[in-house]
Amino acid sequence: MRFPLPLVIFSILLIFFPLDSFSRRTPFFEILIRSLPISDGGEDIGGEDVGSSSTDAYCNSWMYSVETNNIGTWATIPIICQSFVEDYMNGPRYLSDSKVVASYSLAFAKDVFIGGGKDAWIFDADETLISNLQYYAENGYGSEIFNETKWNEWVVLSAATALPASLELYNDLKSLGFKIMILTGRGEGQRELTQKNLNNAGYSGWEKLILRGEGDGGKTAVMYKSEKRAMLESEGYTIHGSSGDQWSDLSGSPTAKRSFKLPNPMYYIA
Ligand SMILES: *[C@@H]1O[C@H](CO)[C@@H](O)[C@H](O)[C@H]1NC(C)=O
Repeated sequence: MRFPLPLVIFSILLIFFPLDSFSRRTPFFEILIRSLPISDGGEDIGGEDVGSSSTDAYCNSWMYSVETNNIGTWATIPIICQSFVEDYMNGPRYLSDSKVVASYSLAFAKDVFIGGGKDAWIFDADETLISNLQYYAENGYGSEIFNETKWNEWVVLSAATALPASLELYNDLKSLGFKIMILTGRGEGQRELTQKNLNNAGYSGWEKLILRGEGDGGKTAVMYKSEKRAMLESEGYTIHGSSGDQWSDLSGSPTAKRSFKLPNPMYYIA
């Protein structure tokens, strides 16, 4: 039996330089191996042998998949991305991303013919009009499983602040003549607190503040919000635009004529 010479040489080389050790010395292999698909939590990479730049690249890519809804349902952020999310949320990029979304929203709104008093724009509340960043900063930026008790304690404080770009958009839309509908997943039990918080953050003059009622208990956000959009349409409103940080704020039938997705890498609501 004869073996091709290159194969023989390669086999001998492998004995002295196994691929495993080779890969550790060669950046290209390192990059290739590290870029292989990662499980949803991202735990497979991490630790000392991952440079900060590859963590950053991974977390940017992870966030891209969050924003495009490629991931689908997820419960917590990958633990290796906690400081990435922290930096993003507290840095200029979050504000800039939000501002660009708001500017496209306003550009669309300016082209809408307004008349008859039934031109509606829907806003979600949390992470759309108001920011709960302080709460999430104290609770691991989405790395901890959602705790309803803790969340409700935060809601009582009515301390969520306005997202600057959203407040500006909100006021601009109001001036253009849109009827503002605030459609939130919060329950009727938190109506007063939510109203108070929205006012504290600088919001006023909305047409309706819609919260989950008794009959909305077991519904997914998509189901609940779709039903409320259908209700508004049956009342004669035209829903021109809808702004939300969750796909579940925007998807489901009927949809607004245009939907605008705000960034939120901290949590996912189905
Ligand atoms: C949720 O938070 C409350 C209040 O801080 C705490 O008592 C409770 O143990 C937490 N629940 C879980 C499952 O962590």
